[in-house]
Amino acid sequence: MSEVILLIDDDQSLRRVTEYNLTEKGFNVVTAASGGQGLEYFKTTSPDLVVTDVKLGDMNGLDILGKIKEDAPDIPVIIMTAFGSIEMAVQAMHKGAFNFITKPFDRDTLILSCKKALELKKLRSKTKLLANEINRLTGTEGIVSASSVMKELLDTASRAANSEATVLITGESGTGKEVLARLIHQNSPRSNGPMVAVNCAAIPIGLLESELFGHVKGSFTGAIKDRKGHFQTASGGTLFLDEIGELATDIQVKLLRAIQEKEVQPVGSERVKTLDIRIVAATNLNLQKKIVQGEFREDLYYRLSVIPLFIPPLRERIEDIPALVKHFLKKFDAPRDVFFSPKALEVLNAYQWPGNIREMQNIVERCIILRKKTVIEPEDLQLLDHKSLVLPLTPVIPNEGIALEDIEKSYILKALEKAGQNRSEAARLLKIPRHVLLYRLKKYGL
Ligand SMILES: Nc1ncnc2c1ncn2[C@@H]1O[C@H](COP(=O)(O)OP(=O)(O)OP(=O)(O)O)[C@@H](O)[C@H]1O
Ligand SMILES: [Mg+2]
Repeated sequence: MSEVILLIDDDQSLRRVTEYNLTEKGFNVVTAASGGQGLEYFKTTSPDLVVTDVKLGDMNGLDILGKIKEDAPDIPVIIMTAFGSIEMAVQAMHKGAFNFITKPFDRDTLILSCKKALELKKLRSKTKLLANEINRLTGTEGIVSASSVMKELLDTASRAANSEATVLITGESGTGKEVLARLIHQNSPRSNGPMVAVNCAAIPIGLLESELFGHVKGSFTGAIKDRKGHFQTASGGTLFLDEIGELATDIQVKLLRAIQEKEVQPVGSERVKTLDIRIVAATNLNLQKKIVQGEFREDLYYRLSVIPLFIPPLRERIEDIPALVKHFLKKFDAPRDVFFSPKALEVLNAYQWPGNIREMQNIVERCIILRKKTVIEPEDLQLLDHKSLVLPLTPVIPNEGIALEDIEKSYILKALEKAGQNRSEAARLLKIPRHVLLYRLKKYGL
């Protein structure tokens, strides 16, 4: 795929010659005859490079440069002018132009400059990708915490980080358990050691023991050589046991022993290996409930939850929402003038967020990509499930008012959902007689 160059020049003959020269070199050229058209094409064609004249009929090339730098700072801009003055050149470079060429210029000067600019652009995107990857791997993306519950939680977490105590992080899916675990590791005295993350739910039961504790050659078919388990790989660092609630009970016993004795016995080995690790575990399941159901060992639970950290669901800390929106706008490189309207934020505040912060991140990213204007309105959000629009515990009345009927309807729907569409059960949940519920269902046409 060849690179796209947007060429803005109001001089028709020069535009044609330059277009011809660039096209001949294999570039894909889009031409614009005025500043306004140039900016329009900039939005619609997303070029890799812009080459613009300074003196355009309707605008100044330097203003175009300014606008482009605001919108997409990584796109290089080359300025050309017949009125080359030092001051203008200095101004252009100050405003972030890649280069400045004076007319008349020969073909090769322009082509060389374009090639260099495009190389720079490629390097920039590569660097950005790498930086994102590093952030993802090290978890230093920054944890947004505007609400007092989150601030307090992070405070506890950073104090916990300083110790060797086992931490159990609980919270719904997408609330940030893994980012918190990484933060704890990074702020711990073990931060120079490895952080090994193991998803307990993703390993087939038959392989769990050998994956966690290692095995020796010949201990089972396929064990062609000695292999270290995650417990040993994490030596000197932190072992993050994710989805711990999914662990089968027989392996729970072995895990408990490993934590208690601080040693493991690889599968098929006579000898035990001493461990030097710190354990952080996480789950989105209710372990206390699993204990009652006999699916999780109580002794293991107490071993793990020396320091329990519960991350509340997003709907219970809506003060974080505006800060998170801002954070994700920046993370996904939205131009500075893109924002969520107050109404859209209101909708986000009232939403139930079943997928918590992960869901919000996806929504913001989608809004940035699909936006038609700079302001994002409620209809652009495309929230999944209107039924999950639930009322916050403290009632909020928007400026335009709210119909009591709608509130009632949403609660009736929610109760039916919770009751698996069983009407008697839904009536019981709503504390009304069954016939009253039936009457309202009919009245609202539900
Ligand atoms: N407070 C926060 N600030 C910024 N980003 C966050 C925050 N919490 C979570 N995220 C982001 O949300 C996404 C989900 O977080 P994470 O993977 O840690 O959730 P989780 O609780 O482990 O989810 P699951 O239970 O599904 O594994 C990640 O991309 C993470 O970077
Ligand atoms: Mg996770």
